[in-house]
Amino acid sequence: MYRTHTCGALRLQDAAKEVTLAGWVQTIRKFGAITFIDLRDRYGITQLLFGEELNRLLEANPPGREFVIQVKGVVMERSNKNANIPTGEIEVAVLSFKVLNASVTPPFTIQDDTDGGDDLRMKFRYLDLRRNVVKRNLELRYAVSRSARNFLHENDFMDIETPFLIKSTPEGARDFVVPSRMNAGQFYALPQSPQTFKQLLMVSGYDRYYQVVKCFRDEDLRADRQPEFTQIDCEMSFVEQEDILNMFEGLIKRIFKDVKGLDYTATVERMSWEDAMWQYGNDKPDTRFGMQVANLKVPRHVFPEKHAFIVESPVEKGGFKVFEEAETVLAIAVSGCSEYSRKQTDELTEWVKRPQIGMKGLAYIKCNTDGSFKSSMDKFYDETQLQSFAASVKASAGDLILILAGAEERTRKAISELRLEMGKRLGLRKNDEFKLLWVLDFPLFEYSAEDNRWVARHHPFTSPRPSDVDTMIHHSPLIEDASKYLEHPYANIKANAYDMVLNGNEIGGGSIRIYQRDLQEKMFAALGMSPEESQHKFGFLLGAFEYGAPPHGGIAFGFDRLCSILGGSESIRDFIAFPKNNSGRDVMLDAPSTIDNRQLEELNIRLTDKNHPSH
Ligand code: AMO
Repeated sequence: MYRTHTCGALRLQDAAKEVTLAGWVQTIRKFGAITFIDLRDRYGITQLLFGEELNRLLEANPPGREFVIQVKGVVMERSNKNANIPTGEIEVAVLSFKVLNASVTPPFTIQDDTDGGDDLRMKFRYLDLRRNVVKRNLELRYAVSRSARNFLHENDFMDIETPFLIKSTPEGARDFVVPSRMNAGQFYALPQSPQTFKQLLMVSGYDRYYQVVKCFRDEDLRADRQPEFTQIDCEMSFVEQEDILNMFEGLIKRIFKDVKGLDYTATVERMSWEDAMWQYGNDKPDTRFGMQVANLKVPRHVFPEKHAFIVESPVEKGGFKVFEEAETVLAIAVSGCSEYSRKQTDELTEWVKRPQIGMKGLAYIKCNTDGSFKSSMDKFYDETQLQSFAASVKASAGDLILILAGAEERTRKAISELRLEMGKRLGLRKNDEFKLLWVLDFPLFEYSAEDNRWVARHHPFTSPRPSDVDTMIHHSPLIEDASKYLEHPYANIKANAYDMVLNGNEIGGGSIRIYQRDLQEKMFAALGMSPEESQHKFGFLLGAFEYGAPPHGGIAFGFDRLCSILGGSESIRDFIAFPKNNSGRDVMLDAPSTIDNRQLEELNIRLTDKNHPSH
């Protein structure tokens, strides 16, 4: 037997027991004729005491850091207790030991505050995974998966696997493709999600499906995106939007409870997409804090339903060209920052000018605590006008009003980023506070100016809101005058779709699906597909809809993303055992890599000179 206990198991009540432990050498400390070794495994650390006699043996055959050793010994009460670890009251007085395997010196220290940089840790990820912090992340991931599976199982969901070698599924990214040796010149696509399969399973009558499943998307990577990532993917039959929202609020609340011990009893807030964009500049607002956007000037055609809510303000009254010429002027009031120094406002101005934000400048008004105002536009606006600005932004004494002006889309995005940044600086975005939100009523279509046609905002299987179905059926998708696309009836069709947002991150999204062949055909046509093309790409689904497809809908959660938020980290890589870097590379495997000529030949692939690795 290699071990009787793990390195995290022994306590004071085990004193005097003879035990065998096996694990990795974490640290070695010599004190004259005796030596202490901290022995580590997945479960914890146990202190080993090598007395005088054993110390001689140890010195004859000294183990180093990360050696794997096995020891036999007796559990003893420690004189110098360590309250920070569960085994801190005992140590094991070693009677005999054996080196099971040696280790070369690791390239970085295997402890919480390691000296290893990101690249090095990824290259030696198997060593990085020995570190406690990384292990805790993987444990959290496993806890989330267990909790989700239990909840779904208790609610009659059935885990069904779907294939990876498939045909393209449109989720808005590029496909990863796999050449077929047996079908020369043909390729499989890896699924961007199991979307069409889960819908087919509904047609087959498996009315509650789930899968914790890998998805593959060739897209630009960020901290919260990986080329292969995992979804908790779900689908249900005979449901309306309300049923889905209730069921999956339940899932997330259960995960909160099981994983964080958190009773999330509050009702999950719901917000229309339009309200989210209007009040936060963002379709995934962080609602842990207020600081809502004041819409001081917005062109008439955007958010037509919101136009009546444009805040009355002196924007156009002072002869300030920047505001007069801008399409959109948006502001936020930042509480308690009226005493920002010139240096601080200059720094914020530089911040909004960074290419990622892309604004030309930042205007501000300090609402001093004595009731006076000081602004970057004092030349243009008098005290009364500044006061009226403050009123329109609902600012109070002590606030700093920040104002951005420019083109609608960019300015809205920038004010949203600025709001998040100020929220962060003021400590309003706490890692241990969780705020859920449903965003509803997304537009079904987006306009593509490049092709003068509609594209699906979610995916082409999403149904329009029941009240908009007729509009879709009775109107042609053709846009005759590109400059007036916003007046086309399709511009106002809302989707029967929903996103779940947690602390400003989209953690899941889904929709009630189209389940009738004619509406699905109409949708493909609206997206610019000819009948032949839709038959070629999605004939299997259109065919299935002719054999009694039930009404159905579903959702998929970004599993890695959910874990990283619950674990309080910005990067999903920390929660994936073997992640890829920002260029989509696995630096440990050194993949992707070239393949040899014979393999290429078998696959009937010839590389162009440009792409040949020898060039
Ligand atoms: P969607 O494309 O919105 O929906 O994806 C669902 C959730 O998956 C997560 N996610 C990602 N996580 C890490 N890396 C990525 N590259 C990545 N892309 C997406 C997000 C997102 O909310 N088939 C539909 C679901 C449905 O309609 O049921 C779908 O895949 O958290």
